[in-house]
Amino acid sequence: MLLCPVIMAQRGKIMNIDFDKLIDRRGTSSLKWNVADGELPMWVADMDFAAAPPIYEAMKKRLGHGVFGYAVVNDEWYSAVQSWWSRRHGFAPKKEWMLFSEGVVPAISSFVRAFTAPGESVLLQTPVYNCFISCVVDNGRKVADCPLAYENGVYSVDFAALEECLAREDVKLMIVCNPHNPTGNIWDRQTLATASP
Ligand SMILES: Cc1ncc(COP(=O)(O)O)c(C=O)c1O
Repeated sequence: MLLCPVIMAQRGKIMNIDFDKLIDRRGTSSLKWNVADGELPMWVADMDFAAAPPIYEAMKKRLGHGVFGYAVVNDEWYSAVQSWWSRRHGFAPKKEWMLFSEGVVPAISSFVRAFTAPGESVLLQTPVYNCFISCVVDNGRKVADCPLAYENGVYSVDFAALEECLAREDVKLMIVCNPHNPTGNIWDRQTLATASP
């Protein structure tokens, strides 16, 4: 592995994180590593690094309390999310714009139900992360497939096909995947601006 201890800046603190440290995950009920000896499970986006020290410490502190009843989403959560967006993207989301979700996939499934009606179509740029498709189909909506162009090993947005697909009456929602899984594309400002209806 190429990475040596990497310096990570977090909230003004500098941390040393050793990405070279190998942690054996076999026998830990890991979906990824519950495989035969010698099998290399590269199909799932599941990191083998330990969580960053502040995350680990916060969880340890919480565990130390010993009681794990029903929880509420507290103000600290809202300000942590606001701070991340503002530090990284100069964007200041208001608290009332935010809803808590336990994962990206359940959130996608919820907004498919919120913004479309059964039988309507959702535009996806394939190939794309399989759960995007199940979030549409399992909610009784249809996939409006608008494949990415593929030339000389590079994927890109086919804007003519996209325009045609967006003009369809049945297409009510488009799900943009950025960074795009599985192509690895990080869509640049120009591409996103051109693709915005
Ligand atoms: C594009 C994309 N969205 C969502 C997910 C799932 O995210 P999570 O399991 O953190 O909800 C993945 C996982 O690989 C993904 O590739």
